[in-house]
Amino acid sequence: MTTPVNVQNRLEAIETASTEELRHLQLERMRWSLAHAYNNVPFYRKAFDKAGVHPFDLKQLSDLSLFPFTAKNDLRENYPFGMVATPMRDVVRVHASSGTTGKPTVVAYTQKDIDNWADVVARSIRAGGGHPGDKVHVAYGYGLFTGGLGAHYGAERLGCTVIPMSGGQTEKQVQLIMDFQPEIIMVTPSYMLNIADEMERQGISPRDTSLRIGIFGAEPWTGTMRTELENRLGIHALDIYGLSEVMGPGVGMECIETKDGPTIWEDHFYPEIINPETGEVLPDGEYGELVFTTLTKEALPVIRYRTRDLTRLLPGSARPMRRIDKITGRSDDMLIIRGVNVFPTQIEEQVLKMPAFAPHYEIEVSRKGHLDSIKVRVELKPEASDAGEDKRGHLVKELRHHIKSCIGISCDVEVHNAGSLARSEGKAKHVFDLRKE
Ligand code: DLL
Repeated sequence: MTTPVNVQNRLEAIETASTEELRHLQLERMRWSLAHAYNNVPFYRKAFDKAGVHPFDLKQLSDLSLFPFTAKNDLRENYPFGMVATPMRDVVRVHASSGTTGKPTVVAYTQKDIDNWADVVARSIRAGGGHPGDKVHVAYGYGLFTGGLGAHYGAERLGCTVIPMSGGQTEKQVQLIMDFQPEIIMVTPSYMLNIADEMERQGISPRDTSLRIGIFGAEPWTGTMRTELENRLGIHALDIYGLSEVMGPGVGMECIETKDGPTIWEDHFYPEIINPETGEVLPDGEYGELVFTTLTKEALPVIRYRTRDLTRLLPGSARPMRRIDKITGRSDDMLIIRGVNVFPTQIEEQVLKMPAFAPHYEIEVSRKGHLDSIKVRVELKPEASDAGEDKRGHLVKELRHHIKSCIGISCDVEVHNAGSLARSEGKAKHVFDLRKE
């Protein structure tokens, strides 16, 4: 059982505003944001003109569908500062996301943007059950990645004591958690597992620390992984969502009362779900690609930014603002194996169903002749590591069967000893697609 958490923290007025009030505010802000982008960023002026639309054409929120999309490549082509809508002297910070290929995507913030960002991250930590006075251990990487500094400013804004540990140095992470006694940790879920392994290696029970809440994001993780993390660490495991182009962490956050997917902070970020092939806007509840329009950002407004993240919009629960369902994956991460679409999270679910396996896995895709083949490497939990050949053979068969019946593809499974697969210190790399190399 995880410890109960007091949720009677005061909310901001907008967090409980009626939908009507919220839509009114969004329309006003969206008008501003469209005009700001059009008037100050040549890329948007050209794109709107080409599509034959003008910011004045936005009479109601649904008119946003008249405006063109923005993609990651547009930011790359305007590298480094071509998308900045304010004079550079007003830009107080830049971040960048490296991506896998080509130039990084650069994002910029004015002081007001940094303030708004700190506000939404503070709101997120509070939604996750954090209070002023809590100690927050930040193990997201500091630097160009938005995770570390984003979490840091938000935790300070809420009135917490921040431990700016950053990623890596796993032994030291454990030492500081034991010595400083933080209530909250902010880290990728995969690195949390790595830290828990290190605790066990040092003879510390991960359930016996001061940690009460984990605020996990920056990579897809499943509901089964939540159960694993909560049981192993005796904490509440909550999902924080965000991306650099839109702000960083804190675009949305799961509320501790409901744990049912991140609430999007819609007073700053307007979400849409589209059909990724046709670009058509889909009604709430239908799965597709998540698209964001920023409503308050000064330095780098984004209009209909295609995140590539696949999910659906759900009605508000703990707050009136809408939620997103857990991200199934990114359209770029979707593997097509012999014609079947497969997301790494689907494999994760099957691995975690089996109690003998640790939550670490790798997926290797290769091509033999014209045929794709897939190999899933899994790792035994330490307590299952003495399994003999027979038992291992059994486990291989069982996992292959689960993957075949749930996902529809045959695969090879390799069972490794505890601790032998590579560990992440930030975002985990699960997929090795040798077809691309
Ligand atoms: O990962 C920002 C962040 C930092 C979010 C810390 C949460 C915590 P980027 O490096 O630009 O920014 O990567 C953004 O990561 O489009 C998603 O594909 C993925 N992602 C982020 N949060 C989640 C999440 C940060 N909670 C990309 N669930 C996004 C699933 C997530 N995927």
